[in-house]
Amino acid sequence: MSVDTVSIETKPTEPTTSTTKPLRIVVLVSGRGSNLQVLIDAMQAGALPIEIVGVISNREDAYAITRANAASIPVVTLSHVANGKRMGIKTFERHASDQFIAWQPDLIVLAGFMRVLSASFIENAPAPMINLHPSLLPAYKGLDTHQRAIQAGERHHGCSVHVVTAELDAGTVLTQGLLEINQKETADSLKTRVQKLEHQLLPWTILLLAKGALSLSRDQSIHEQNTFLPSTPLKLYLDS
Ligand code: GAR
Repeated sequence: MSVDTVSIETKPTEPTTSTTKPLRIVVLVSGRGSNLQVLIDAMQAGALPIEIVGVISNREDAYAITRANAASIPVVTLSHVANGKRMGIKTFERHASDQFIAWQPDLIVLAGFMRVLSASFIENAPAPMINLHPSLLPAYKGLDTHQRAIQAGERHHGCSVHVVTAELDAGTVLTQGLLEINQKETADSLKTRVQKLEHQLLPWTILLLAKGALSLSRDQSIHEQNTFLPSTPLKLYLDS
């Protein structure tokens, strides 16, 4: 299937009007910020009904900070290492929680954010949290996903957007972008191709959430307490 013919299996959506309030989004980053840039561009072009109300980086050298500054989006840097001293996750989370209170997000997006968050932080967050991960989850949680997929002789690889839960990369998968691994693929070439997919998948997913085609809710009767889950499981396949 080509990228132009994305199929979406989901429930019918309510028609939205131009008066729909934009989804307030906080983006957590650690690096280059190419996915943040895609969201900024879509927001500025009016292609996504979102307002990026803040960015949190855990690295002061993250190029994502430059991108946020260029778009006049408030950025808070909570460096994991300051003056040679490591900032513990609890301290990071305390400051991040203060920012959430100030920014009042509807959705928290982890786009290349590389710190592992605690269960209590995730469960007490004031908004659902989603993460972009470079593999077809549940395969290849964690790091070095492209190299591991090639070494295992996989035919397919891709990226996933999933709900963040206490267990790393294990929350409900909302959407996936899929591609075939080429014969002479290297980890670098695969990463480049997957990132192209990510740049489509993340805005698509947020659009579906913003339009209500995909919803996240706390369903305590079926699932563990305070876990955010989609009411309509949905997968979206792309290829490149
Ligand atoms: C993306 O490829 C994303 O999938 C990955 O980091 C990259 C960030 O790119 N995330 C993870 O590995 C999370 N476990 P970007 O900074 O250019 O958006």
